[in-house]
Amino acid sequence: MSLNKHNKPVIAVVGAGPGIGEAVARRFVAEGFYAALLARTEDKLHKMAQGIEADHGPDTAKYYITDLREEASVLTSFQHIRDELGAVSVLVYNAGARRVNGRSILDTSSEEFENFTKINLFGAFWATKCVLPDMLAAGKGTILFTGATGALRGNPGLSSFSPGKFGLRSLCQIVTREYQARGIHAAHVIVDSPVDGKLIGEWSRREWKRRGQEGKLDDVDAHLVAPADLAQTYWFLHTQPRSSWTHELDVRPQGESMFSKL
Ligand SMILES: NC(=O)c1ccc[n+]([C@@H]2O[C@H](COP(=O)([O-])OP(=O)(O)OC[C@H]3O[C@@H](n4cnc5c(N)ncnc54)[C@H](OP(=O)(O)O)[C@@H]3O)[C@@H](O)[C@H]2O)c1
Repeated sequence: MSLNKHNKPVIAVVGAGPGIGEAVARRFVAEGFYAALLARTEDKLHKMAQGIEADHGPDTAKYYITDLREEASVLTSFQHIRDELGAVSVLVYNAGARRVNGRSILDTSSEEFENFTKINLFGAFWATKCVLPDMLAAGKGTILFTGATGALRGNPGLSSFSPGKFGLRSLCQIVTREYQARGIHAAHVIVDSPVDGKLIGEWSRREWKRRGQEGKLDDVDAHLVAPADLAQTYWFLHTQPRSSWTHELDVRPQGESMFSKL
């Protein structure tokens, strides 16, 4: 039975946390989308969906508990989304896994390498396979991948992160080369700075204080990517006319230098 009573277009936000994921979901819901939110932690998802519905009305957000390290979990969630909300017209693959403080290869376990790479890359492959058939049948669809500086540079300490992000960038190029002619707009967004979400936003503020850079606390937007501002970029990519599709772009706050960080 369809829960999408008004037949709204559906966005699936894979890796729906309180930072970029929620901000993108909210941006699209504000434009009339129904958001399917995918992540592992039920209480966070429940609160997020409730908050979106409180601000935008009923029938705007529903969550699907998913572990991106398991193909079966991804397939099950997308089947439920299709049954309950209808075909996905926008996929945002936003999940990512890395250590805040990196570790050398010798100190990185094979288990961590495998688990993080599943989240950074495999989940994107599985999710893309889930949404492509309906998008191709419709002759259109948008697939946006959240990237990082680690997609371009293999910096020390990031062996369990960067290879997955390189791979994600490659996957996006392949989606484009295989399916752009059939109406699929895929884009890779390189987020080249810390994001002002819960974990990294708080960590950055603590670091600024520790390093005697308290001045940054009065000028946060110059140093951290604001999720709601970045969400504008995702909306911009989705609404680009097909005569001028962007395949890849990068973003950073004004005060940060280009491609300089881990
Ligand atoms: N934060 C930064 O400073 C920064 C900088 C550059 C690039 N990025 C990129 O931005 C993206 C994340 O955005 P964000 O940091 O703002 O995070 P976010 O949108 O607040 O949250 C992402 C969510 O992904 C979910 N997730 C992680 N592993 C998962 C798994 N195995 N299965 C299902 N869901 C999973 C987590 O929820 P659960 O734990 O509940 O599953 C998490 O809350 C990543 O691609 C990251 O590489 C972030």
